[in-house]
Amino acid sequence: MKTIATTLLSAVLASGSLWGADAAVTALKVNSDLSTVSYASDLWKKATFSSVLLYPQTTIRMNDKKANAMNAHNKAKKAMVAALYNQENIVFMIRWPDSTVNVQKGMSTTSYADGFAVQFAGNFSDPNALPYIGMGSEGRPVVLHLQKVAKDIYEPNGNGDVAHQVNRNQTDLFGKELAAFDKKVASLGSSDYERSFVSEGFRSMTEIKDGSNHSYARIHYLQNKKSWEGTLSRALKDDYVNLNAGAIPVAFAVWDGEKMGRDGLKHLSAWVSVKLQGMQGGEALIKALDTKLTGDPKAGKAAVAANGCVGCHQIEDSDAPNLMGPSLRNVGGYSTAGYLKESLLKPSAAIVPGYNRNAHSAYPWYTLDKGVRVSTMTDFSWLDEKTQNDIVAYLQTLKAEVE
Ligand code: HEC
Repeated sequence: MKTIATTLLSAVLASGSLWGADAAVTALKVNSDLSTVSYASDLWKKATFSSVLLYPQTTIRMNDKKANAMNAHNKAKKAMVAALYNQENIVFMIRWPDSTVNVQKGMSTTSYADGFAVQFAGNFSDPNALPYIGMGSEGRPVVLHLQKVAKDIYEPNGNGDVAHQVNRNQTDLFGKELAAFDKKVASLGSSDYERSFVSEGFRSMTEIKDGSNHSYARIHYLQNKKSWEGTLSRALKDDYVNLNAGAIPVAFAVWDGEKMGRDGLKHLSAWVSVKLQGMQGGEALIKALDTKLTGDPKAGKAAVAANGCVGCHQIEDSDAPNLMGPSLRNVGGYSTAGYLKESLLKPSAAIVPGYNRNAHSAYPWYTLDKGVRVSTMTDFSWLDEKTQNDIVAYLQTLKAEVE
């Protein structure tokens, strides 16, 4: 009897939850104050950690040979994510492997820091039309919270001679002037490199400085696990996002300073479904983010070859880089099936902004029609549905292996 019972139980487990797909992450409801929760909080003992895969973002080729060479063979990283929420706030913890500690040094532009970001969709009422994963797209804004690892920055005059500047005894100031100097030094000295942005596509980021959003991020290194642990606490609702819902889409990114990571040179998750425990709704979102189209990747690969996608895209690692369109080498890692299908059928619905249009005028990824962005990608909605689904199934296989 024992064997039968075990077999039955594993059959149920293998088929997943009986009442539909599970969200990737579940945020537990708690009664405690969550406005300033850090990694040190005991609350994390209650939380359930789920794995979230972060893929090297290879959309755009950097104009930096050294960084490109260092990152040519990046693998995916497995992060662990947990979340808690109450009436006012939601807090996330992300833990990810990184064998080296890289701290931003002052204002130096040649020092690269480790860090992480958590991204929220401004609007997710249509789970099949979420913002572009790489910092949103026109008309589909995101809010993102960034925390980098930084040492104290004391730069009253921006010359970089920090030791001299902060040594008040070497100034010839006194009285009110010295007090003003001290005050200025204190205001410029901050060890916390935490920022929040609204963005509708990379290079359109606007820092939120009006105080309308509440957020609190912390980061620390776990020497024994060779991992960073970052936390972000933010308001459930502000002027930019309303996370009061049964399930919400959230994306995570991490930077590795050791490999000169900055801007788009990072590891990125797809939109991940986060269930708010006990809240109604969200099934459609969870289903949309979980869906794997039932296509045949082999047939999809043949269709991609037949339709000349490689004329604009680097598709597999062995293809030459191509500035005509985004590299698709890891697109299966950070995209949902719905997004890939939309890219194929309605290329202009969510546009990847591409290179700086002044510096790379030969490679515009969109044209402007009366101010509206139109993708330079051919529309493939004429393909029969089976071929479309086969292509999406193939695109979903394009991703680095996990380290
Ligand atoms: C004429 C050039 C061109 C051709 C041919 C082309 N694409 Fe594209 N594609 C682009 C450009 C430019 C973008 C970025 C602008 C945008 O978002 O539409 C893009 C974006 C995409 C994206 C979104 C990538 C991301 O990182 O989010 C996918 C997926 C994609 N293309 C797949 C395909 C597939 C599959 C084919 C062949 C069936 C194809 N493309 C053919 C130019 C092209």
